[in-house]
Amino acid sequence: MDIAVRREPIEGERRVAATPASTAQYLKNGLTVTIERGAGEASGYADADYEAAGATLVDAVDLGRVEVLAHVRPLDAATIGALPSGAVTVGFGSPASELEGVAALAAQGVTAFSLELIPRISRAQSMDALTSQSLIAGYRCVLEAGMRFPRFFPLYMTAAGTIPPARVLVLGAGVAGLQAIATAKRLGAKVSAYDVRSASADEVRSMGGTFIHLDLDAAADAAGGYAKELAADRADRQRELLAPHVADADVIITTAAIPGRPAPRLITASMLQGMKPGSVIVDLAAETGGNVEGAVAGEDVRVEVPGGFVTIVGMKDAPSTMAFDASRLLAQNIANLIGLMTVEGAIAPDFDDEVVAGACLAHAGEVRHEPTAAAIAAAATSSTGTTGAH
Ligand code: NAI
Repeated sequence: MDIAVRREPIEGERRVAATPASTAQYLKNGLTVTIERGAGEASGYADADYEAAGATLVDAVDLGRVEVLAHVRPLDAATIGALPSGAVTVGFGSPASELEGVAALAAQGVTAFSLELIPRISRAQSMDALTSQSLIAGYRCVLEAGMRFPRFFPLYMTAAGTIPPARVLVLGAGVAGLQAIATAKRLGAKVSAYDVRSASADEVRSMGGTFIHLDLDAAADAAGGYAKELAADRADRQRELLAPHVADADVIITTAAIPGRPAPRLITASMLQGMKPGSVIVDLAAETGGNVEGAVAGEDVRVEVPGGFVTIVGMKDAPSTMAFDASRLLAQNIANLIGLMTVEGAIAPDFDDEVVAGACLAHAGEVRHEPTAAAIAAAATSSTGTTGAH
């Protein structure tokens, strides 16, 4: 079977779903690879290197003949509509926000695998694209903060005087947050961090950060190692307890997220007023609603505070800013998932395998991921209700 890869059609997306190295892996497994010319250009992979690895280069992938389409971003309606029934797709599907796309994939008879749905178990770690891309995002956030912060991160003792280390606060200590802690520590900052999950305190300490305990009654752990959304009164209390830590920080990196929900609001406009002028906040959740009031994805927002201003950096397409390594890891994650399903040169998904079954969004005309199927049904019911149709 053939793995097809296009240049990602979404503007600003620089990553590519296959690299020369993953191409070589497919060929080793008895598959063939077709790459659109220039697909790797934005991430730094040359056509000649794909060719040398054994790929066939084409001016445009013929979607109507695709057997397996590896992709980065969720597929658009035109692409889905052009795929033949029985085609397999592997990439990010954003099932929580792409209900129409998921329904279209099922209606088209496509077998779609969504990287976000890969179970977070040890055996699936090599396929876990959320982790590989969050690692890049967390690292990058700290660099973005450092570039805007008008001071050093490390302690410097010079003949002209001593410069104290910057105080970095990381809110949300999942994969990206832990990477941000590690990166800020390497740069010499004094790092503290907070998360609602009970396991996070040890993880923060293992990265060299100081964990901030808030008196919130209980942790908010949900299934799969994720966090639960806080009830309104606890969220208020959380912000109240965070306020002095926010005021004390020079640099804040916010990464808090709840799968399928808008990002929790951790820092309000009034909390910003307590910050020192020159402070920088990088909001990794800016694209999903923002942890920080006033953050705008893809923009720097300057907020006036007594004595100056605070800069809020709304991160956008964070992994794409380091497209070479982001693609290297992502393409490997995709190749490992496809490898798990490859039997004698063909894709043969074993739905008894919890990784394969867990990652499957649509198959044989049905939406297989139950929460997404329920959300599609609910959306259909509510639109029928509002139009009055029966
Ligand atoms: P995520 O991107 O969904 O969320 C980021 C962080 O925000 C999480 O740590 C979450 O607890 C935190 N958060 C949510 N609401 C918050 C609030 N109101 N205040 C403060 N923090 C808040 O999570 P991510 O980074 O994808 O990781 C989730 C979990 O999965 C972690 O426990 C991680 O260790 C685990 N994991 C397990 C893997 C495995 O076993 N193979 C692989 C990768 C992650």
